[in-house]
Amino acid sequence: MVSEVDFKQVLAEKKAIIWREYKKYLLGHTKPPYALDRIQDYKEEDSFFWKAVSDYPKRQGKYIRGSLVLLVCEAAGFEQEKAALTGAAMQASEDWILIHDDLEDNSLERRGRPTLHRLYSAAQAINAGDALHIIMWKMLRDNEKVLGCEKALRVMDEMNSMLMRTTLGQSVEIKWTEENKLDLSDEDIFFVIGGKTAYYSICGPLRLGGIISGLSEKQLELLFEFGVPLGRCFQIRDDLLDLTSDFEGQKKQVGNDVYEGKRTLMLGHLLKNADKPDLEKIKGILGKKREQKTEEEVRYIIEKMHHYGSIKYCQQKASELRKEALGVFDEKLGFLSKQPGRSKLKAAIDFILERKK
Ligand code: IPE
Ligand code: IPE
Ligand code: MG
Ligand code: MG
Ligand code: MG
Repeated sequence: MVSEVDFKQVLAEKKAIIWREYKKYLLGHTKPPYALDRIQDYKEEDSFFWKAVSDYPKRQGKYIRGSLVLLVCEAAGFEQEKAALTGAAMQASEDWILIHDDLEDNSLERRGRPTLHRLYSAAQAINAGDALHIIMWKMLRDNEKVLGCEKALRVMDEMNSMLMRTTLGQSVEIKWTEENKLDLSDEDIFFVIGGKTAYYSICGPLRLGGIISGLSEKQLELLFEFGVPLGRCFQIRDDLLDLTSDFEGQKKQVGNDVYEGKRTLMLGHLLKNADKPDLEKIKGILGKKREQKTEEEVRYIIEKMHHYGSIKYCQQKASELRKEALGVFDEKLGFLSKQPGRSKLKAAIDFILERKK
């Protein structure tokens, strides 16, 4: 197995390629599309705008999604530099989605700093997210110069269907949280995870790399088959980490998901397995808004997740999914054969599957 240290180097290498493109769209001042628009007279407002817009991009997350796009190209023997703009669009989408997600979830921290809506205001955060969304589509439009019209349009279509599925997943998750839905099957949870993580974080980026590299429809389907267990595993690990806030060096609030009432696999398990008195108490806590929940109540729910084996259940699920994903990779993704691309991709997968931060 390739170690995490090696993968950190891989991520750093891809991040540099992607950021080189991404920052071009963030550093320039607003270009007036209309001759009468005298933006130069509003320099202070313009730079305030760009400061808010560039804030999350400059925090630079792990760059897993953009890196996956480039890694598939590398392993398929296609010039990864030509995928840099798509990787940048992928990261821009990550930034606008997370700005909006943090507001939707009422989260306090992102990538080790206060969330954008806390630094500015909800209204400014929504607007900064909108701007990054527009930047993303501009990048995808500019892709035509790099990839030609046909591939650039296919990339756009893939981004469109991936993001529609993501926003559906977000909507369902918010709906169930707002309704305090308590009967949650694993399928229900995986439906939500499907959009926000399996499609968005893994299958989409893999398929984008595949489209750019000119892979066949059948091969794109295999990438999808591989991405689903990989993505599910990634989200379960994210949710497990949330309970301990063990995001090394990027402290988040412990039990942030419990505060926000997120419908996770461990919560679903707990609700199915808790005895009546415990269940009543858990329901009561879950029904409260974030601000009304005390630290003690959140700790109580986490303790019960340990007590009823919900954490163990999720660890086991994650390890089954890990096995499934690795099986598909070894048996069906032989077409991603170029070295060192294939080993680097394998390192990425190991990182995602065993993620400790
Ligand atoms: C956060 O994803 C959103 C999820 C779907 C789990 P990451 O953990 O990849 O976030 P960054 O971009 O690296 O901060
Ligand atoms: C993030 O989901 C949503 C997307 C990236 C689509 P979460 O709400 O689960 O992610 P975190 O826990 O805030 O990073
Ligand atoms: Mg969130
Ligand atoms: Mg969310
Ligand atoms: Mg999380």
